[in-house]
Amino acid sequence: MLKTPVSPQTSVDPPIRHSRESGNPSSLKEKTRQCVVVLDFGSQYSPLIVRRIRECGVYAELMPYDADEAAVRALNPRALVLSGGPASAYAPGAPHPQPHVWQAGLPILGICYGMQLMAQALGGSVEPAARREYGHAMIHAEHSTGIFADLAPDQDVWMSHGDHIAALPPGFQTLASSANSPIAAMGNAQGMIGIQFHPEVAHTPEGMAIMRNFLFEVCGLRGDWTPAAFIDEAVADIQAQVGDQRVILALSGGVDSTVAAALLHRAIGDRLINVFVDNGLLRLNEPDWVEKSLTSLGIPVRRVDARKRFLDALAGVTDPERKRRIIGETFIHVFEEEAQRHAPVDFLAQGTIYSDVIESRAPDSKAAARIKSHHNVGGLPDTMRLTLVEPLRKLFKDEVREVGEELGLSHELVWRHPFPGPGLAVRVLGAVTEEKLHIVRLADAILTEELRTASLYEKYWQVLAVLPDVQSVGVMGDERTYYHLVALRAIESQDAMTANWAHIPHDVLARISSRIVNEVPHVNRVVYDITNKPPATIEWE
Ligand code: XMP
Repeated sequence: MLKTPVSPQTSVDPPIRHSRESGNPSSLKEKTRQCVVVLDFGSQYSPLIVRRIRECGVYAELMPYDADEAAVRALNPRALVLSGGPASAYAPGAPHPQPHVWQAGLPILGICYGMQLMAQALGGSVEPAARREYGHAMIHAEHSTGIFADLAPDQDVWMSHGDHIAALPPGFQTLASSANSPIAAMGNAQGMIGIQFHPEVAHTPEGMAIMRNFLFEVCGLRGDWTPAAFIDEAVADIQAQVGDQRVILALSGGVDSTVAAALLHRAIGDRLINVFVDNGLLRLNEPDWVEKSLTSLGIPVRRVDARKRFLDALAGVTDPERKRRIIGETFIHVFEEEAQRHAPVDFLAQGTIYSDVIESRAPDSKAAARIKSHHNVGGLPDTMRLTLVEPLRKLFKDEVREVGEELGLSHELVWRHPFPGPGLAVRVLGAVTEEKLHIVRLADAILTEELRTASLYEKYWQVLAVLPDVQSVGVMGDERTYYHLVALRAIESQDAMTANWAHIPHDVLARISSRIVNEVPHVNRVVYDITNKPPATIEWE
């Protein structure tokens, strides 16, 4: 039988976002912390460059390619990186950095398109290559110094370019060449370096060593930044922003809002009001588990039982978008009432993380077709007049997890899978009822428990059980049954934008299936979803 309690794995923020501008306190740490600014020319790898630099122990931030001087200076960068991008440096309308970039006297690493911009701006020339170079390439480094320090002269690298450097700018020399790019890397005595290949991708085996060489050999940086070191800085920032006022936080039980709660509590103690709305759409034992995880750390949680209210509002609703809308609106009403109860409150805390910030800034995000209205981008009504506090907005997901562990949250809690804001309502296809929620809750718990036992849970991005609105004929004992079908889904992904279905070993699938039909009432068939995203989405609704 099902062991209880089964830990849940939610990790989304509550359904409110970006309702007000957040304050932007500058901390002492920000002024002394060594920072690298990555200017984004539109490469899909730009956020990855930031990640890789942080993995080297140097704090980095992504800024738009045309960031003005004051904005860049505010971060006091020790070096700049120019990302790749899809344009040609010589094409009309191609994105170029502001002139201050070349005049700042800082070391600069230009990657691919970034290198071509550097060549063009500093007096060299860029031309279309005889043929496009895409994929693995061998480069030969001239010297084992600078970015190639301690590396073998011949390096396997990842290339993706149609243009190349035809003539070096004055003062530069060739650092490496390949069969198709006579100037595959170049540099000058001021620490301006251009590389035609991508060190940030895993396909360049020594990419991290090259990145480290740039940061430490060329720029002389320290490499002492860690996500945990971020805690003191964030606490100081929160205290500076909030003063002696009070903050309300909508705790979803997901990783981001839970870590935000722990961080805020460290900064302002009981002036933080954590509101945890039990909407009846959470997983088995989840409300108890989330509450206990925080109260055991001395962080009070105000739990609101709104199960009936949500289920009443959802009664008979079958359209997924309508379900999302109803859940979002009901949440806002419940939350507003809570905020009233605790008035006066001046600040609203949210677990917004760096990828949310980067995604909302992406140039093509506005044009992207709406596939599903993820309801946590709705925003609170203007009448609430709360100022946003977003202490995690500079951190990537796994950095948030590291901070969470450092703050004393359990490994299990901070490594949970993502879970959608509308919860099980989008996993019960068609009308949501208590009976159907019970089935999907038990199936989900068995799936999770078996994957944890098989040490597979943390290998996957997300796993879920779905209850389609389908019954099928079966036989149990000597009796014919006409019961529910449960579908299982497990996926591997980097960012939920694309996903591959996970090849769960057959013996594990067999165990999960057999337990579900034996332990979950009114289920006689289990199927496994073997569709990637695209064309399918991760959730079924
Ligand atoms: P899809 O189904 O669009 O899901 O491939 C991508 C990721 O987003 C989660 N998801 C949601 N999260 N509100 C949320 O906060 C929603 O309405 C919602 N719908 C999907 C999904 O679980 C996956 O991680």
